[in-house]
Amino acid sequence: MRARTLEPPRAPARAPARAPARDVAARAGRGRFVVGGNWKCHGSRASVRTLIEELNAGTLKDVDVVVAPPFLYLDDAMATLKAPYEVAAQNCWVEPGLVDPTHRYDSETGAFTGEVSAEMLEDLRIPWVILGHSERRSLFGESNEFVGKKVAHARYHGLSVIVCVGETLEERESGKTMDVIFSQLKAVATEIDDKEHSSWGSQVVIAYEPIWAIGTGKVATPEQVQDVHAKIRQWLADNVSEEVALATRIQYGGSVNATNCSELARLSDIDGFLVGGASLKGEDFVKICNTSAVHYKAIGRKPRDDSVVTFSFDEDGELIDTK
Ligand code: PGA
Repeated sequence: MRARTLEPPRAPARAPARAPARDVAARAGRGRFVVGGNWKCHGSRASVRTLIEELNAGTLKDVDVVVAPPFLYLDDAMATLKAPYEVAAQNCWVEPGLVDPTHRYDSETGAFTGEVSAEMLEDLRIPWVILGHSERRSLFGESNEFVGKKVAHARYHGLSVIVCVGETLEERESGKTMDVIFSQLKAVATEIDDKEHSSWGSQVVIAYEPIWAIGTGKVATPEQVQDVHAKIRQWLADNVSEEVALATRIQYGGSVNATNCSELARLSDIDGFLVGGASLKGEDFVKICNTSAVHYKAIGRKPRDDSVVTFSFDEDGELIDTK
C-alpha cells in the first residue's frame, strides 16, 4: 500500500464508504454541506422560543444551517438564534405576470394584500428564502414560471435561495421524474441571467423533494436520491455551466430524520438536507446537521479543507482509504 496526496477527484474512483448502487452515477459537488429546517406553518411564540433555545444549545460542525420559521416569527429568530444559524423566509412575492426583460424587478411592492416582498426580507436582513416548495406549488398553484421569476427576483435583492423541485408519485411511476424536474430547473435557469442581476453558485441551493416522501414517513431510497441528484448536477453542467454544477448544493428532503440521515449523508451527491417535521425537535435537527461529518468522510474530503486530501491505494491502484 502506498499513500499520496493529491487534489480531491470530482467523483472518487470508488466511494470509500458505502457505495451507491453500481449502475448509479456519482458526481460529487464541491459545496459545503447545508441543512435547512422548514418549520412550515407550525408553532407559537412560546414553542418557537423553546425550539430556538434547543438549537442554540447544540454544537454544529462545519455545516451551513438555515432555519425557516413562519413569517411572524422571523424577527424573533433573527434576534435570538446564534451563529452559525441563519434564517430563511418560506416564500416571497413576485407578480406572476411580470414581464421584465431588463430584470429591474421594481414592481413587487404595492397592492398585493397578504404578501411579503423580497425587498422587505432584504430590509430586515433576512438572508435566505425557500421558494417553490411543493406545498406552494400544489396548494397555492405556483407554476414553474412563477417560481423561476421568484428565484431571480429574490437573487436580485441579494437573497440566497433554496429552490425546491420534485415529482409526484404518479409522475415517478409513469417514468416522468426527470422530465418534471428538468422543467422546474429550466424555468429557474431561464430567469437567472448569471451576469448582472442574479446568479447561481453557492447562493442557490436546490432541494430535491419527492412529493410522495414529504411528511409521509416514506423516504426515497439512497439509490433513488443519488440517481436524481447526479442527473440534476449533470443538467446544470450541460445547461448552465460546469462551474455552477460543482458549486451548487443539492439537498434531499422528504421524511429525513435523526435515524435515517446518516445513510443518506454518505451519498456523494447529497450536499445536505431540507427537513420538515424533524426540524421542530432541536436535538434531532442538530444531529441531522452534523451528518456533514459523515458526508465529508464518505466523499473523501476533510472538513474545512477541500484542497488537500490523502488517499491510500492498494497495489492495483484502487482507492481503499482517505484521511
Ligand atoms: P418532511 O418535510 O421532512 O416533514 O417530510 C420536508 C419538507 O417539506 O421540506
